[in-house]
Amino acid sequence: MSKVRIAIIGAGILGSRHARVFHEQPESETVAIVDVNQERAQKIAALYNAKAYTDFNAMLQNENVDAVAVATPDHLHRDPVIAAIQASKHVFMEKPIATQIEEAREIASAAANSKVTVMVNYSQRYLTDYAWIKQRIVAGEIGKPVMAMSIKYDTIYVPTGMIPSWASHTSPIYFMSSHDLDLVHWYVGVDPVEVLAHETRGVLESKGIRAHDGVNALIQFEGGVSANFHSSWIHPVTYPSIADGYMQIIGSEGAISYNNRTRRADIYNTKGGYDLTFAGPQTATEVEGKIIGAFTDSLRHFLNCIIEKREPDTSPRKVLPTSESQAAIIESIKTHQAIKIKK
Ligand SMILES: NC(=O)c1ccc[n+]([C@@H]2O[C@H](COP(=O)([O-])OP(=O)(O)OC[C@H]3O[C@@H](n4cnc5c(N)ncnc54)[C@H](O)[C@@H]3O)[C@@H](O)[C@H]2O)c1
Repeated sequence: MSKVRIAIIGAGILGSRHARVFHEQPESETVAIVDVNQERAQKIAALYNAKAYTDFNAMLQNENVDAVAVATPDHLHRDPVIAAIQASKHVFMEKPIATQIEEAREIASAAANSKVTVMVNYSQRYLTDYAWIKQRIVAGEIGKPVMAMSIKYDTIYVPTGMIPSWASHTSPIYFMSSHDLDLVHWYVGVDPVEVLAHETRGVLESKGIRAHDGVNALIQFEGGVSANFHSSWIHPVTYPSIADGYMQIIGSEGAISYNNRTRRADIYNTKGGYDLTFAGPQTATEVEGKIIGAFTDSLRHFLNCIIEKREPDTSPRKVLPTSESQAAIIESIKTHQAIKIKK
């Protein structure tokens, strides 16, 4: 089979990495780079002898590509994703699906009604540590999940120094807590039904970023399952890691807890328990000149789904409930009321 020809749309931090990882896989090659910043598009394209564009519609018209990887800012996913689906290209898109629920539903519907493969890059599912938690739950080792808790934070460098031009258009709930929201929805295996959330605000606003400093959200799922999410964006830059967190899943017969920084997990159930500390590659680790880890594994799942013509584990249709929860969190913050999620 010939290689899957990939175009990258949005060649910033993530998109430039996708360009490299796709090019490093034997099944794919990076042939075009699109970025509204022409210099950036040309610089990344030159690394792979690819064509540079500043307009994704022009690229879709002129290039013979099989798939696109969309890594534009959180609030700018809709237009390139819909254009690519309409042009019958497979789509690997960054999380969150969108920051407006109407756009997320539109993408889920367009993908479900198309013949192409569309996958949302919830890459943390491919971290050994989080996949191990899922395996324990599926094996019934903590019984039925009934409660969950996620604490997730970035240092203030993320909104003020890493993505300052678009931090005001997103939120810690859409940016980094996207992953924990996805993981918890995946672990509990049922849909959200009601959300109550509060924000704290002021520190980022004083620096010109119109975003929450932090959010506390409580999500009620079907069957009485309950989960809370603490998400903040103002940890000091002196913190030992740019992003960190803690998660706990409590089941009817046991509990699992996991600490991001130490990578230590504890599992205890009615028969006993143990703890373990994960080692090995995390998100993106360079070994012998190639990037390995969760990013590569997530992207390889996309390529395998194209080749085997199957729906990805994180297709927009499957992960739409996480977008519904995110939208309900924002709505609850605005209205100071609990928000019901309709099916
Ligand atoms: N899966 C993960 O673990 C993970 C991690 C970090 C970020 N992300 C996501 O990746 C996306 C990109 O994040 P980033 O950190 O690379 O941001 P970034 O700001 O570094 O890059 C975004 C790029 O998109 C370009 N762009 C904007 N509008 C465009 C358009 N219409 N057409 C073409 N290019 C356009 C910008 O010029 C910029 O180069 C975000 O949605 C973010 O949440 C995912």
